Amino acid sequence: MQRHLISAADLTRDDAVLILDTAEEMARVADRPIKKLPTLRGRTIVNLFFEDSTRTRISFEAAEKRLSADVINFSAKGSSVSKGESLKDTAQTLEAMGVDAVVIRHGASGAPYRLANSGWIDAAVVNAGDGTHQHPTQALLDAFTMRRRLIGPDAGLGQDLEGKRITIVGDVLHSRVARSNVDLLHTLGAEVTLVAPPTLLPVGIETWPCEVSYDLDSTLPKSDAVMMLRVQRERMNAAFFPTEREYSRRYGLDGDRMARMPEHAIVMHPGPMVRGMEITAEVADSDRCTVVEQVANGVSIRMAVLYLLLG
Ligand code: NCD
Repeated sequence: MQRHLISAADLTRDDAVLILDTAEEMARVADRPIKKLPTLRGRTIVNLFFEDSTRTRISFEAAEKRLSADVINFSAKGSSVSKGESLKDTAQTLEAMGVDAVVIRHGASGAPYRLANSGWIDAAVVNAGDGTHQHPTQALLDAFTMRRRLIGPDAGLGQDLEGKRITIVGDVLHSRVARSNVDLLHTLGAEVTLVAPPTLLPVGIETWPCEVSYDLDSTLPKSDAVMMLRVQRERMNAAFFPTEREYSRRYGLDGDRMARMPEHAIVMHPGPMVRGMEITAEVADSDRCTVVEQVANGVSIRMAVLYLLLG
């Protein structure tokens, strides 16, 4: 393992499988009445969030507390200082306080990389989502969820996702979740197909290690997992598709579409979910939808990452 976790693309297959296996042990702790481990007692972790987040921030905090770390939450939203300056100033303040790890979410792609490689701090840096770039712990918790559901918790130990067919649907252009998942799933041997309107695919998509399709209906029967993405309107400055209705008709997942998937196949969503737009309530509430499991698995994955970086 490297000293920081900045991008899913930095992980080797062995790193990724080690994190998934460690998360499996952490999940066992979560099943006990007392969920706390003494592993990071005396270590200080700062959650530095420059962008909105509910589940990711809470998930990191829960993971840190379960490992007995001292936790400092820093919500930098609304700061008027320009980004470069404020990041440096904040980093130097944290360094002066002697923190061991910084979990950072930032609207600017590359901010965690800059923090890790600036020489401003000695702490381990964990990327909790930067701009449209990367969200490596999300990709890891998604891979963990797939391995548990498609192979099984114990049977999955030591295993990657070789040959599993994963379809990712929706706003790929603005999605750090999609980018991180494509990188990690490729490393783990899965076959990824992206389905999106041409306007919501990034330039250079042909260099990504995956297939692209514009036809959801023909892709669903060949999928072991289907991951629906939120349309990220807050990152859009123009109209990327005609109407919501038209988007849902072509790229939304409803009960009829879900029936085209193989019986064992699961439906995933990183959250926050917009019911009606990318996924109907019927699908979101079905047994095949792993959204709630993904949240629980997120705590185990973040415990595993922090343990491996700091333990
Ligand atoms: C995602 C994110 O922030 O990148 N959410 C998350 O972390 N679970 C995706 C989104 O906001 O749609």
